[in-house]
Amino acid sequence: MNYFSQLYDLLDLSFAPYSGFHVAAIVITREGKLYHGVNVESAAYPTTICAERNAIHTAITEGTKAGDIEEVHILARNARNLLVVAYPCGACRQVIAEQAANEAMIYSYLSATEIEQHSIAQLLPFAFLGEQF
Ligand code: THU
Repeated sequence: MNYFSQLYDLLDLSFAPYSGFHVAAIVITREGKLYHGVNVESAAYPTTICAERNAIHTAITEGTKAGDIEEVHILARNARNLLVVAYPCGACRQVIAEQAANEAMIYSYLSATEIEQHSIAQLLPFAFLGEQF
């Protein structure tokens, strides 16, 4: 399924006055449920939260169980108003690895037809999942 047009509309909800880098994410669960996220920046910069984690945290809040996220779709627009390919940051890769299925796929859009795909295992090999706790 292609989420370009939903992601494109979602970009307008991003709050990114400091970087001008707008990101939209859509998470799809095993049951086919869909959750939206945008990046929300803060004047205290590190308090910023990424679109991917916002979408995942909403999915969990709405009852999605760890391991039930199957797809993460991402679209970004830079400060020059150009769509650019974005991959999840390190912090988001960690959260995706913990909350998504092992075979979960990350789709990074440049346009409706140019979409890169990677598994979370490709983006975060040898993930630390706390299994030794
Ligand atoms: N950002 C995301 O929301 N997701 C990504 O995949 C990369 C970075 C946000 C965080 C910050 O608001 C802005 O993009 C610039 O780093």
